[in-house]
Amino acid sequence: MVARTHTVAFEGLEARPVEVQCAVTAGMPAFAVVGRPDKAVSEARERVRAALGAMAIALPSRRISVNLSPADLPKEGSHFDLPIALAVLAALEVIPAELVENTVSLGELSLDGTLVAVAGALPAAVTAAARDATLICPEACGPEAAWVRDAAVLGAPSLAAVLRHFTGQSVLAAASPGEVTTEEAGSRDLRDIKGQERAKRALEVAAAGRHHLLMIGSPGSGKSMLAARMPGIMPPMSPHEILETSMIHSLSGLLGAGGISRRRPFREPHHTASVAAIVGGGRSARPGEISLAHNGVLFMDELPEFPRTVLETLRQPIECGEVVIARANAHVRYPCRFLLIAAANPCRCGHMHDAARACPRAPGCGDDYMGRISGPLLDRFDLRLEVPPVGLSDLSLPDSGDTTAQVRARVARAREIQEQRYADHPGVRVNAEAEGRLLEEVANPDAEGRALLMRAAERFGLTARGYHRVLKVARTIADLDGGGPVHRAHLAEALAFRQPGNDREGALVGNG
Ligand SMILES: Nc1ncnc2c1ncn2[C@@H]1O[C@H](COP(=O)(O)OP(=O)(O)O)[C@@H](O)[C@H]1O
Ligand SMILES: [Mg+2]
Repeated sequence: MVARTHTVAFEGLEARPVEVQCAVTAGMPAFAVVGRPDKAVSEARERVRAALGAMAIALPSRRISVNLSPADLPKEGSHFDLPIALAVLAALEVIPAELVENTVSLGELSLDGTLVAVAGALPAAVTAAARDATLICPEACGPEAAWVRDAAVLGAPSLAAVLRHFTGQSVLAAASPGEVTTEEAGSRDLRDIKGQERAKRALEVAAAGRHHLLMIGSPGSGKSMLAARMPGIMPPMSPHEILETSMIHSLSGLLGAGGISRRRPFREPHHTASVAAIVGGGRSARPGEISLAHNGVLFMDELPEFPRTVLETLRQPIECGEVVIARANAHVRYPCRFLLIAAANPCRCGHMHDAARACPRAPGCGDDYMGRISGPLLDRFDLRLEVPPVGLSDLSLPDSGDTTAQVRARVARAREIQEQRYADHPGVRVNAEAEGRLLEEVANPDAEGRALLMRAAERFGLTARGYHRVLKVARTIADLDGGGPVHRAHLAEALAFRQPGNDREGALVGNG
């Protein structure tokens, strides 16, 4: 008899259905798993054998064959333990075969039969729900899987508990969804930052239109502080965005306690991280930091310190909001529509603008340092500004300026305007994503504005891309201003946000 049950194999964000078949036949005693298993899947045999042994079930001295179908889909990870164990138990007629047939399960077994949490329970639940099947997963994964509407999810502490469930001794409890977290503990407010009105305005514009932002300033000027407040001023994620982001976090095993966060992710990879860690890939093609930041913020502190390969690999995903990772025999896609905030010191020692502390090589050292950021990458920052340090006297002033909640409300209004504007344009949600004719149409400046733009284009030598980027930012500034036509003042502010570097596209040189 061939027993059948189901599980999934991950391919990018998708959990593809996999049928696990098991046959016990006469022949030399053996336990074989076929169907393109990777090493972790092959090792499932030992864990399954031990876990069954812990329940006093010995494998018979016959040939046990397990096939993972479709055979051409690579199977990776340790989550195949539970479905393989179920198929074996059904083939041995310990549990009724018809009960496991419409079950999707995943989970890693420890040698004593305890079920260990695995990544990807959320996408697995989506697949199970689409097939009208019950999902059985480790107890620790239940709260995250139960988020999927219409999914029947059972969380199990051990293989023994699953066995008792299928033999009718005690049923497994349905898992309930984990908590939703909206605000992070000890939330950081924009008002904590003294002064820096221009930088705060840049954050607001960036959040409103999802424009990438580069901040340049000496150490201690508050760049990290500013960046950390960005997720707070962005509107909470929509249900669709929550699902997208949570799927990626589920695949990386990051949904702590199954809680789902409405707050936008904030990822801050260190500059020593590898290309695979940042962009994604590696042996099991996991999502990288740029995908973990999907719908949220990617903060790259000390941008020039990142290896050139990382910086150049980033250009493509920044542009298309999706990263394609090449595997030996397939391509895996992950979404990565993030808002990039980068910070940099003006030079290696960081004190180029401080005559008393600057190194002997100033100001030439600054050109060397910033030269590590290529022109095309620099061009992708719609907003670039210098962050001057606040004076000690300013630090003792009382809190001033708008709170995070006030700015978030303005950003949310500007985003609503954009949502309506681009309702008929799938793939475009914010001004930063508008291109070509659409951009010309929605950001058409008035006569005065156009004259200013022409003068600026000539004087600063704007490239075509730079020209369009200015239009996008001006559109966002006009949206923060109520959504009317783009005026001269909006364009003037947008142009001012292309410093330093606007006098020579692609070269980051202060213009005095
Ligand atoms: N504008 C400011 N208001 C209040 N504190 C500030 C401000 N700028 C800097 N600080 C203080 O300086 C510290 C260093 O700031 P940080 O954001 O790490 O600087 P940077 O990233 O530019 O090196 C902060 O933790 C904070 O205590
Ligand atoms: Mg810092």
